[in-house]
Amino acid sequence: MEQKIVFALPNSIGLGARIAERANAKKGELTISGFPDGETYVRFEEHIEGKEVILVQTMNPRPNEAMMEIVLAGRTAKELGAKKVVGVVPYLAYMRQDKRFHFGESLSNKIAAWMLMHGLDKIITVDPHLHRVKEMGELFHIEHKKLSANSAIAEFISKKFSEKDTVIVGPDIESSQWAKRIADSIRFRSAIFLKERFSPRKVKIKVTTELDWRGKNVVIVDDIISSGHTMIEAVKEIKKRKPEAVHCICVHGIFAEGAFEKLRKAGAKTIVSTNSVKHKSNGIDLSGLIAKEI
Ligand code: R5P
Repeated sequence: MEQKIVFALPNSIGLGARIAERANAKKGELTISGFPDGETYVRFEEHIEGKEVILVQTMNPRPNEAMMEIVLAGRTAKELGAKKVVGVVPYLAYMRQDKRFHFGESLSNKIAAWMLMHGLDKIITVDPHLHRVKEMGELFHIEHKKLSANSAIAEFISKKFSEKDTVIVGPDIESSQWAKRIADSIRFRSAIFLKERFSPRKVKIKVTTELDWRGKNVVIVDDIISSGHTMIEAVKEIKKRKPEAVHCICVHGIFAEGAFEKLRKAGAKTIVSTNSVKHKSNGIDLSGLIAKEI
């Protein structure tokens, strides 16, 4: 009898199916739809008593609906007698609001974690945005696993580019945990820039490493492309220095407010993301990495 059943929730239909296939696990049937007033309706279409239920739901697009869907599904699975409920949430939304930047703001990261904990026994995520909060355990008092897309990105870069004429760039200090680590793992040269953020849509990038950029393929790596302004400003700064081409890679491609097109316009030759969030830029598959973990 199958002990693990993978349910792909609306934001991760394709990824959920691939994870089930690669983990050799059964794929379950679940209906998620809406009531006429906009409320979320959830129904398991099969018996899950005594089973380990794996819910795959990334939290972009529709982060609020995605949250409600996974919490309702997780809580329902427990009530229906699932042995364990595991949430695979490749992109974990709300993590960037990890401080009261202004008086009266909510600490969204804590509250989002608190909501997820009500539906899940374990959470698996990929490169969550941990900055002021350093560890998942500070937010999640359930079993938790943080995966990294670094090895998948490193493999992608080493297949497409040569270490002789390529520089891997991190657009800000925080991004060195992706850019520098990836570069070091495949022995590519790297440079980490400085970023000053004035507002969600206004950033300034300072190129701190002076090298001969001419003739180089520059690959900028970051965890998230959201409004795209971090990448856009980094691309613009590098383009001034006449490289061969500038390429952008991210773990989580959110591409809000037309960021993909804006980034192309700014001069990015290629833009590639992992499939943590479904997007036309997806070029790095995480299903194998996740399947090993479930
Ligand atoms: C922030 O520190 C992150 O690592 C990313 O650099 C940031 O979230 C990107 O956001 P945006 O695309 O809106 O500039």
